[in-house]
Amino acid sequence: MTRTPIIGGNWKMNTDRAAGLALAKAVAAGVSTGTKSEVAIYPPFPYLPLISEALCATGSQVILGAQDVYHAEKGAFTGEVSVAMLKDVGCRAVLTGHSERRHVLHEGDDLINMKTLAALNGGLICTLCVGETLHQREVNETDHINERQLRAGLRGVTAAHLDRLVIAYEPVWAIGTGKTATPADAQNAHSHIRAVLADLFGNDAAAKIRIQYGGSVTAANAAELMKQPEVDGALVGGASLKPDDFVAICKAAGG
Ligand code: 13P
Repeated sequence: MTRTPIIGGNWKMNTDRAAGLALAKAVAAGVSTGTKSEVAIYPPFPYLPLISEALCATGSQVILGAQDVYHAEKGAFTGEVSVAMLKDVGCRAVLTGHSERRHVLHEGDDLINMKTLAALNGGLICTLCVGETLHQREVNETDHINERQLRAGLRGVTAAHLDRLVIAYEPVWAIGTGKTATPADAQNAHSHIRAVLADLFGNDAAAKIRIQYGGSVTAANAAELMKQPEVDGALVGGASLKPDDFVAICKAAGG
């Protein structure tokens, strides 16, 4: 099974209007040739319309995504943003279950599941992020945690959603720390994730779902990680703020 790699740039709470626009334009220009991977960027909410217009103006294939979404359609949910609002400003993708939402904003599996379902039902590409903490890793719970987060996050997801579903394995201890899972660690965790997906959706469907690795991916380590047969791309934080590095990661995946 050949899966088209997908590289995401999760900007988190970084950039400003001018820097975000410049970064998006540099990424769009940099990946317009020489990469066969799909490329998505996830800027902060306020800059989405501006960046959407800039990507459209150049006819870029770069997918615009949001870092979060709320599952309700509309109403009294102060501070929240709906799927329809994201689509209205040109988003085609969204992240759910990112470890910073789980551990800093205290989102639980049920909320993450509702967000994931709303995104998929609304036609967005949804990247559900899973991953263990350092303590969970040390007590050998990596596969168990990933499985629990997958089964809970994907409750109610059906075959009709699967072409828009991406999973990101992001070990919490590797995010923003400079510590990367070894290629073998990533391969092992991804294999177990795919086995869970096969149990949920069948072998053929599971074989088509892309599983990204995230956690201190750099231009220097991307190629080695993405050589692993079960690693179908990367979800990149820090290095996605540096256009040359991010473009190099995209090319390492799709080259
Ligand atoms: P870093 O690449 O900065 O470790 O962040 C990874 C991440 O959280 C991407 O979503």
